[in-house]
Formats: sequence, C-alpha cells, structure tokens
Amino acid sequence: MRRLRQSPAVRSLVRETSLDPRQLVLPMFVREGLSSPMAIGSMPGVVQHSMDSLRSAAVEAAEAGVGGVMLFGVPAVRDAQGSGADDPRGILNLATEALASEVGDALVVQTDLCLDEFTDHGHCGVLADDGSVDNDATLERYVSMALAQARAGSQLLGLSGMMDGQVAVIRAALDAEGFTDTLLLAYAAKYASAFYGPFREAVDSQLKGDRRTYQLDPGNRREGVREAVVDEAEGADIVMVKPAMAFLDVLREVRDTVSIPVWAYQVSGEYAMIEAAAANGWIDRRAAVLESLLSIRRAGADVVLTYWATEAAGWLRA
Ligand code: PBG
Repeated sequence: MRRLRQSPAVRSLVRETSLDPRQLVLPMFVREGLSSPMAIGSMPGVVQHSMDSLRSAAVEAAEAGVGGVMLFGVPAVRDAQGSGADDPRGILNLATEALASEVGDALVVQTDLCLDEFTDHGHCGVLADDGSVDNDATLERYVSMALAQARAGSQLLGLSGMMDGQVAVIRAALDAEGFTDTLLLAYAAKYASAFYGPFREAVDSQLKGDRRTYQLDPGNRREGVREAVVDEAEGADIVMVKPAMAFLDVLREVRDTVSIPVWAYQVSGEYAMIEAAAANGWIDRRAAVLESLLSIRRAGADVVLTYWATEAAGWLRA
C-alpha cells in the first residue's frame, strides 16, 4: 500500500478529500458601541469587532476566497424579549446592512438567528411564567427577527435556536413577504455542548443554567439525524451539525441521510483547544488546524464554519 504514499505528487493525486477556501465560513462578532476591536480572552486571535473593523475583516475574508461570513451581534442593552434582535437599528441588522453592501457580491453574508445574544436571561427564546423556554412564543419572535434580517440584506439565515417548527414558520413568513431567495440554514443537530464555553465571553452571554431543554443530548446520534430529516422536510436549504469534531459520526450519518448540503460548525472550544496546545508548543498550529478542517470535511461536511477561515484560506491558496 505504500506505493500510494511514495511522493508528494502521488499522495496529492490520490488524496480523497479536498479543502478549498470557498468551503469555509467565518463567524464574526460585532459589538454595539465599540470604536475599535476588542480581544476575546477565551478565543485568542478572535475579536469583537467595531463596525469599521468588521467591514475590513469581511473584505479581507472575501479577498482570501472565503465562502461566507456568519454575523453575531452583541447589543449594548438587553431585555426579556430580546428587542434588539428585530430592531432595524439593532447592531446585528445594521452590521448586516453594512456587510451586504461591502462584500455581498463577493461572498454570502449570513446572520445568526437566535435570541440568546439579545435577552437579559441569555436563553435562545422567550420565557413562560414558570421560567421555561416557550417554544411557540419564541417562534413569533424568530419570524420577526427573520424578516428584519432579510430586510437588512442577509442572504442566509442561520437558525440556531433549536425551537421546534422554526424552519417551517420562518420559510412561510419569508415567502409571504417576498423574500423567496433568502436561504435557510437549520442548525438541525445542535448539541448541548461544553465546547461552546469560550463563545460565552465572545457574546457576553447572560445565561445562568444550561440549554438542555432545547439542545440535543450529546449521547444521541439517531435523534440528531432525525432533527436533520425534519428540518429538510420543513424546507431547510442546508442543515448543520454542531459542534463538529466531537460529533463526526453524526455528521457522517446526516450526510448519508439527507440530500441537501450539510455544514458543520467548528465551535469556540475546538478553536480554543488547538490554540492553547499550539501556544504551548505542543502541536504544529497550522498542521493541526488544517487536519481538523480536513477531518470535518472527510466526515461529510460540505462547508465548515471556523474561526480560522480567513487564515486557513490564505494557507490553502499559498
Ligand atoms: C447560541 C449559539 C451558541 C454558539 C453559537 N450560537 C452558544 C450556545 O448555544 O450555547 C456557540 C458557537 C461557538 O461555541 O463557537 N445561539
């Protein structure tokens, strides 16, 4: 079998999995009221952007050939309903407008559609009187948020809240308002994961407790596949598995089950682990990053959301 590994040329010719800049999406954070970018301690190398630094980082991503950017907003003020989320002057919608005009032709401008950054309790939905997350009341908020994002120029909505029925109601509302081309990415199999830890600082999360009543139990593979099947039937254009590396088996099974594109999110904890090991000199940073991305592609992801998108795209083109 070593004949197939004898030289760089032969290895390149028989490599089964490829990784292209266009298959990478860069998640970006924009924070209301900032005049210059602010470092995120838990994610070395990643920042909360000001409007200006967001624009230039998006241009840089586009020039590197990255396929898209996924925007997260960090508002200055929060309330129980997450009012900043569907306010046309809210930070996420203003940033979307800015990026749609700046890089909207070069890559796909995408927005996170979830209330957790905007609520004062930090949950992904609104709460019922007993403190539980109210599924159907949240759907009404999501519809309003979807329309605000589409009006702001978002080309793809990332439905990350894990409410039942979210894809169907948002598709119907978008179509009714004439946004028939707005793409829906369903975070179909989003697990309640410890690997989201560093992200909490990135969005200044107010959450106490956990999201186990709406995100999936990490032990469940069949249930993850079922979520993807349901989302495809509801009209999702793309489904997501998240996190990536701890759920590669789910990713493979989802890829083999649905016929639409399947994406994976290499989350903050995956990023932070590799950065920490590299900072200590324990692993070759570039090799580890590329291997991690390749493994996610090999498991079945058509596209990977990764905080290394711009840098990795640069390596791949070099
Ligand atoms: C919530 C959301 C989370 C992430 C993306 N969207 C956190 C959570 O569900 O607790 C995590 C992303 C990351 O860790 O990189 N809408």
